[in-house]
Amino acid sequence: RKAAFSSSARHLKDINSVTVIGAGLMGSGIVQVAAQANYKVTMVDTTDAALKNGQAIITKSIKRVAKKKFGEENAAEQQAFIDKALSNITVSTDGPAAVAGSDLVVEAIVENIDVKQALFKALDQAAPADTIFTSNTSSLPITSIAEATSAARRERFGGLHFFNPVPAMKLVEVVRTEVLKDEVYDSLATFAKNTGKTPVECKDTPGFIVNRLLVPYMMEAFRVLDRGDAKAKDIDVAMKLGAGMPMGPLELADFVGLDTMKFIIDGWAKEGKIEEALVTPSKTLNSLVEQGSLGRKSGKGVYDYSK
Ligand code: 3HC
Repeated sequence: RKAAFSSSARHLKDINSVTVIGAGLMGSGIVQVAAQANYKVTMVDTTDAALKNGQAIITKSIKRVAKKKFGEENAAEQQAFIDKALSNITVSTDGPAAVAGSDLVVEAIVENIDVKQALFKALDQAAPADTIFTSNTSSLPITSIAEATSAARRERFGGLHFFNPVPAMKLVEVVRTEVLKDEVYDSLATFAKNTGKTPVECKDTPGFIVNRLLVPYMMEAFRVLDRGDAKAKDIDVAMKLGAGMPMGPLELADFVGLDTMKFIIDGWAKEGKIEEALVTPSKTLNSLVEQGSLGRKSGKGVYDYSK
């Protein structure tokens, strides 16, 4: 691919090929934006069904992107853009084989430290020494995940945190651990820019920047609901029309997934690094999760999406 930057004195690693592990909503979004930016991308998941699902998400979303980029009337340009991007994507169920030929690995699998560590342990052995490792985790410390890899790899292991929906959200948090090399940070920031995003730098602290501010705000909306101070719809309308938010806090929680919300807040409470009042659990949130009402993806959360 044509490098969008010149090689500097800091010897930026020129990223050409990327492996994304996890073909869910976040993983497939990352695959899509990298492929649109002309990176060669391998999308990895454990089953063919998961890969098919990821491809379906990409196909739907990329049509939307193409329509917006070229306009309804330019069908040929749209199709050429789509074909080019899709031709940059291959799929695989063999993570170690994929990373053996990759400059960058982005992990976007389940938020479970043991599962992530087992994955990275295997990938560390299979990947070339200079391959950069990253996680898209929103709730686990990058430093803890990286512990499964060699000391040398940890200097090339950062956070690359995208936002949902990845094709539309313009931000990437680039997480700098204590040991991350400057040139690796620069390569990651450049990668983020090449995918059309704006990178921001943050330390490896709970929630990084966005979730550290956003999750307590969304949790407070649940506590307003718990106390019966306002109805769900009114909370959301209030924040949209009174504070200019694109979605209300409860709609956004349904969009992110209520299980994810609960997982983040419970994890923070356990870590004990955030003020207690901010991690106070919500009865409403906990009971919805217990009933399996996890938000949009399950057809019901705070709101009903089944109709
Ligand atoms: N694929 C491609 N493009 C998409 C897309 C998708 N899946 N979803 C939205 N878009 C694009 C559309 O093409 C549209 O572009 P345009 O307006 O320039 O033509 C634009 O995004 C807006 O989409 P819509 O007009 O369909 O709908 P809205 O105006 O209601 O916007 C939204 C949708 C962008 C999702 C907006 O509601 C929003 O910004 N919501 C808040 C999202 C948010 O806060 N996300 C972060 C959650 S926290 C997180 O992810 C962190 C995690 O770790 C928990």
